[in-house]
Amino acid sequence: MWFNKKETKSDTDYFSTQWMESWKESINQSEHYKKTAATWNAPLILKIEPRPESFDDDSAIGLYMNLAYGECLEMRYAHENDTDTTDIILKADRDTWVKMIENSKDPTMAIMKGDISIEKGSLITLSTQRKAASALLKTAPSIYKGVPVPSENISPKKEAPDPTHKTFVTTSRGLNHESFPMKLFQKSKQFGIWNPSDINLDEDRKQWQTFSPEEKQIITHLSALFMAGEEAVTLDLLPLIQVIAKEGRIEEEIYLTSFLWEEAKHTEFFSRYVQTVMTGTPDFEQFHKPMYKILFYEKLPKALHALSSDSSPSAQLHAAGTYNMIVEGTLAETGYEAFSKMLTENQLLPGMQEGILKLKQDESRHVAYGIYLINRLLDENRGLADGFEETLEELLYDATNIIMEIFAQYEIVPFGLKQDWFLDHAVKQFQHRIRKLNL
Ligand SMILES: [Fe+2]
Ligand SMILES: [Fe+2]
Repeated sequence: MWFNKKETKSDTDYFSTQWMESWKESINQSEHYKKTAATWNAPLILKIEPRPESFDDDSAIGLYMNLAYGECLEMRYAHENDTDTTDIILKADRDTWVKMIENSKDPTMAIMKGDISIEKGSLITLSTQRKAASALLKTAPSIYKGVPVPSENISPKKEAPDPTHKTFVTTSRGLNHESFPMKLFQKSKQFGIWNPSDINLDEDRKQWQTFSPEEKQIITHLSALFMAGEEAVTLDLLPLIQVIAKEGRIEEEIYLTSFLWEEAKHTEFFSRYVQTVMTGTPDFEQFHKPMYKILFYEKLPKALHALSSDSSPSAQLHAAGTYNMIVEGTLAETGYEAFSKMLTENQLLPGMQEGILKLKQDESRHVAYGIYLINRLLDENRGLADGFEETLEELLYDATNIIMEIFAQYEIVPFGLKQDWFLDHAVKQFQHRIRKLNL
């Protein structure tokens, strides 16, 4: 159960020598930590700035922990000269660290939001060890007593709205043409009017014949992921539109009509492309591996179609987090960016380049709407922020797993595509979006 902890004692002893000793002991007694951190072998510095008064050492810059395969070999104050020999240095102020310890939270989200900064090391390595990090913080001695206090209103379920119309916006207050959704709708009419069947694919067809089997394979592979992804978002958007319509949010619904239409065109674009350019009938579904299936075959439709029976704000947040933040804002954007960069640099497949350029513009509006919707829901339901952060952390993990799953299928990836570039871009996109949320 989620709970807040009540302060029952002064917390001035955090980060004292004695406190560190008991933390080390607690780590080495924890079976849970031993299990979750079995593959972790690296020293770590938790830098604390400004320097807390509870430090018993004037030259200390933070805490040094030598962690090896589920054990803490050493815990002491860190000094400037330790920084060269330590692979991971995380920096935050005292209050942030105390909050992390009190809530035993996975630090990934705090890093994304910029509360903790990485002075040394990679976010990707850390995100693969997020369960170990959370288990580590769980062992830290809390000097609050931690009396569980149920927090209110974590997942308020809304009554199903009455479907009868009491009034109409256009005949009462009038449409708000200055609202964000209406502005997005104007942009959709300006930039979203493009026709996939107008794109000339003759040159693409010629080039396709000249590609090696490996080159054909990676393009077929990525197309298989994009194509099913676009079909999934087309199929799964309707329940959200229905909720927005039932709530009488006409400006948002007006924008969403173009959103769905654009997703339909993206599906048409890829389908037309592969049917026109690729010879033979490639087995696209062989490229849908388990991690991809978890998100696109299961989590995405479940999150969206749950809205048909539960239109509560927490269900809407879950849907928008999955759809807009992860599928569109993290995965699709990274995939399209990497693919179009590779095609432009190698002067390949001009038809594909043109389609993806148009499609990326549409997607940026979709993600902008998603952020607007999430922020509206969070502003109206402050108690939902923590649960939503946890959902996003899980989903980011799914997204990075999908990227690793793609690259695991190749020894050498044609056209110079690189896993690290994909992972780094995905994490940065996610980080960029998360900072726009009112969490
Ligand atoms: Fe799309
Ligand atoms: Fe989209």
